Amino acid sequence: MSSTTLKTVLSLALAATVAALPPSSPKSLGWGYPGKEFTDCLKAKNVTFRVQSDPEYAALALTYNERLQYKPAVIGTPFSVQEVIDSVKCAAKCKIPIQPKSGGHSYASYSTGGRDGIFMIFLENFHDVKLDTTTNIAAVGGGVRLGNLAQGIYDQGKRALGHGTCPGVGIGGHFTHGGYGYSSRALGLAIDQIVALDVVLANGTAVHASETSHPDVYYAMRGAADAFGIVTTFYLQTSPAPEEVVNFSYSFPNALASVGSAVSALEGLQAFSLNASVVDGRLGVGLYVDSGPAFLVRGTWFGSLADFNASIAPALLSAIPSAPASITVDRTDWITSLIQLGGAPNLTVPLYGYNARDNFFAKSVTTTMAFPDNALRSFFQYIVDKGLNGKAPVSWFSIINLYGGPGSVIPTHNENFAAYSGHDDLWVIQNYGFVPQNQIYPDAGIGFINGLNDAMTDKLTEFGAYLNYVDPTYSAAESYKLYYGAELYNRLRKLKAAIDPLNLFSNPQSIR
Ligand SMILES: Cc1cc2nc3c(=O)[nH]c(=O)nc-3n(C[C@H](O)[C@H](O)[C@H](O)COP(=O)(O)OP(=O)(O)OC[C@H]3O[C@@H](n4cnc5c(N)ncnc54)[C@H](O)[C@@H]3O)c2cc1C
Ligand SMILES: *[C@@H]1O[C@H](CO)[C@@H](O)[C@H](O)[C@H]1NC(C)=O
Ligand SMILES: *[C@@H]1O[C@H](CO)[C@@H](O)[C@H](O)[C@H]1NC(C)=O
Ligand SMILES: *[C@@H]1O[C@H](CO)[C@@H](O)[C@H](O)[C@H]1NC(C)=O
Ligand SMILES: *[C@@H]1O[C@H](CO)[C@@H](O)[C@H](O)[C@H]1NC(C)=O
Ligand SMILES: *[C@@H]1O[C@H](CO)[C@@H](O)[C@H](O)[C@H]1NC(C)=O
Ligand SMILES: *[C@@H]1O[C@H](CO)[C@@H](O)[C@H](O)[C@H]1NC(C)=O
Repeated sequence: MSSTTLKTVLSLALAATVAALPPSSPKSLGWGYPGKEFTDCLKAKNVTFRVQSDPEYAALALTYNERLQYKPAVIGTPFSVQEVIDSVKCAAKCKIPIQPKSGGHSYASYSTGGRDGIFMIFLENFHDVKLDTTTNIAAVGGGVRLGNLAQGIYDQGKRALGHGTCPGVGIGGHFTHGGYGYSSRALGLAIDQIVALDVVLANGTAVHASETSHPDVYYAMRGAADAFGIVTTFYLQTSPAPEEVVNFSYSFPNALASVGSAVSALEGLQAFSLNASVVDGRLGVGLYVDSGPAFLVRGTWFGSLADFNASIAPALLSAIPSAPASITVDRTDWITSLIQLGGAPNLTVPLYGYNARDNFFAKSVTTTMAFPDNALRSFFQYIVDKGLNGKAPVSWFSIINLYGGPGSVIPTHNENFAAYSGHDDLWVIQNYGFVPQNQIYPDAGIGFINGLNDAMTDKLTEFGAYLNYVDPTYSAAESYKLYYGAELYNRLRKLKAAIDPLNLFSNPQSIR
């Protein structure tokens, strides 16, 4: 029997448990179907798993981006590191690609593989948060969500970490691919606070990776974890929670009245952001723009309201020519500021059954440059011509966040520290299009967001893209260039050949 016939027979025999795979499936990579040999291997090792015919499968396979839903062949929900090891050993034996899932918030649904037919290892049972109050290092399970992490370390010792705002985002993707929040200019990107990792590697070994133990694994996992292994426990250096947080939002709806006024407003924000006589690491700031038309300068500041009003507020307002239509400035505490940013009534996310979703396409621009006038002009010309007054084919927003500038701790690291190329970014832009759930996101909405991105990058001499806003429309080669740059990619490619030569940990843009 030819191997093709054998595969056909096998796939028919397994039709009840494994749905037919489309051309982009792992089969086209020359790999086998996740068939009976694989599930028998998992059973023999007492690994907890589900296949498509199991009633629990559908809920476990859900990812945040409704636009991109893939069907893993098998979903593991391990309870122990040993189960993760056994899962990896079976997958290696049967050549089934793996992606771990932490929070499932990948913009490209890479935790379900970014294609059908993979083995997803969902870390929902790895949800412990334990603060060591002597070292102030938190040991955190690889499936913990950001809200539970922030609340856990605060409750156990009034500690904080710099990270993003949505409480449902998972540590597994977020901390290993950057991780930005308004607190990051003071506390660091999420990735920079990782001091060690417990990782299960492709060869079925569990290692403790740090600067001194398996430094290559420690390096590669911080920036390219999706291609190198499964973090079961993160060790994170926490900081004291800020005592006082000022949360601010200035609305300038008139700024979008014309291209010129929008450019002047963003140039004013940029001049303010780079003004070392007022700005230091305590400031986190970004611009939010949408078709509303909304033009909001928002952020947080670690200090008293009186000091904010005396220094930050007047410098910001005098730099931006438009008059604000409304100003919200609140003095709050660390946890309340996170709740306000997170948009949920509290930070606690249920450990099982999370099902929030959105139907969207998003992409990003990172740049180390101050925005030149012609790039801002091009960007806002596109918005005024195509994005306002109901002209856009989808709802959209753009967020432009300040990473660098005076006093930011982010640029104190570089790509020798971690496999992450974004430490010298000054600005990071996210362009995001969305439609209501249960509608089809139209192709024109992909084109619209691509055009918005291009309107900016066409005029920049240096730019990249942000790994945590993965954009599946890039080819692997384009994605390496935009996310990592040639030098870092080459370094990672060599590490990949040494640590995961089978390419077990893979998605369409993972290092290979
Ligand atoms: C609503 C929303 C809000 C967001 N807000 C922010 C923000 O404020 N700031 C910001 O920087 N980003 C933000 N993001 C982007 C977010 O940081 C990324 O989508 C992030 O990668 C999601 O992590 P996750 O664990 O939830 O994703 P998953 O989909 O579970 O995983 C993403 C990738 O990481 C891999 N992975 C997951 N867990 C592990 C692990 N334990 N070991 C190894 N690899 C693993 C997966 O296989 C996959 O390739 C937001 C995203 C959403 C949807
Ligand atoms: C198999 O795993 C389950 C769940 O972790 C456990 O309750 C059971 O005792 C295990 N059985 C064996 C034979 O190891
Ligand atoms: C500030 O807090 C308000 C609620 O008091 C909230 O609506 C807003 O989103 C917060 N903004 C920022 C930038 O934190
Ligand atoms: C700071 O300014 C805001 C409005 O901009 C005002 O509501 C608040 O009372 C001021 N607080 C102090 C302490 O100056
Ligand atoms: C920086 O801010 C100070 C205080 O608001 C202001 O006097 C100065 O003109 C600003 N400098 C620039 C270059 O904008
Ligand atoms: C937290 O908010 C959620 C809704 O997002 C709610 O279901 C839950 O009961 C709240 N938990 C606590 C501890 O208040
Ligand atoms: C597994 O890979 C790691 C990293 O390359 C290596 O240190 C370790 O010795 C390997 N273990 C086995 C059993 O081959």
